[in-house]
Amino acid sequence: MSARRIPSSTDAVRPRASGPLSITLDGESFDGVDGQTLAGVLLGCGRMSWRATSSGARPRGVFCGIGVCFDCIAEVNGERDVRLCQRRASNGDELRTQRDLPPVPVEDPDTADHADPAGRADGATS
Ligand code: FES
Repeated sequence: MSARRIPSSTDAVRPRASGPLSITLDGESFDGVDGQTLAGVLLGCGRMSWRATSSGARPRGVFCGIGVCFDCIAEVNGERDVRLCQRRASNGDELRTQRDLPPVPVEDPDTADHADPAGRADGATS
């Protein structure tokens, strides 16, 4: 067990039994204990980052740890944009690193086609 991982049975405020669990990130296995967040499992195993910024590909993991910054997001069991510092780990969780979606193209108002998408020339709505 890592020195960073403290079993919930030794919690001074609310001790409870804790069992082992295992999650994967991009197929790599990480072991933790019940009660940890997904970020806690990764950090407890020494994994400090699991995402890269879209600009500059700089590594990101936990920054605020309280659900505010969204630096810790990843895909969890097929759900995108999960903040790993806020999601309690469950045995068998499958995490995938995710890339930012491609930027949405911005229309140039001077060249945008303002034609009615329904093809009506009179601008009628129904
Ligand atoms: S570390 Fe900031 S939202 Fe998770």
